[in-house]
Amino acid sequence: MDIEKILKESGTSQKDLVPLLHKIQAAYGHVPPESIAAVAKHLHLSESEVFGVLSFNRFFTLAPKGKVRVTVCQGTACHVRGGGRIVEEMEKKLGIPAGQTTADKKLSLEKAYCLGCCAIGPVVVVNGTHYSLVSPQKVDSILEKAKTAE
Ligand code: FES
Repeated sequence: MDIEKILKESGTSQKDLVPLLHKIQAAYGHVPPESIAAVAKHLHLSESEVFGVLSFNRFFTLAPKGKVRVTVCQGTACHVRGGGRIVEEMEKKLGIPAGQTTADKKLSLEKAYCLGCCAIGPVVVVNGTHYSLVSPQKVDSILEKAKTAE
């Protein structure tokens, strides 16, 4: 689906911005930066207004994501139990900082700020599968499974 077709199916008022961005992200897996100008024009907004919404809402991403998403919780409960060490270990093993995707586009490493299961933290989620009480020693096996995940 191209951007023009998505725009044609969308309303043109400011309240249509977030639903429109969701549709674009659903179609492309991310919001292509080159679509911002077309979205702004369609909704009679400035490009900086569209960019502001994209930046504020953590759900949206401007960069393509990998097929496998590894999310490491950095919320308070997970953080005090060593969540910071988990994300550092993942960054080291994958060779990318959190927020980036591996060069082969297979895997994206992300941080979250509470995944709603604080009692079993530190928590890592790989494409919907939760790993609880994660220690740095478990990082290798989690990443091995992540690399073969669909
Ligand atoms: S702080 Fe990690 S799940 Fe809530």
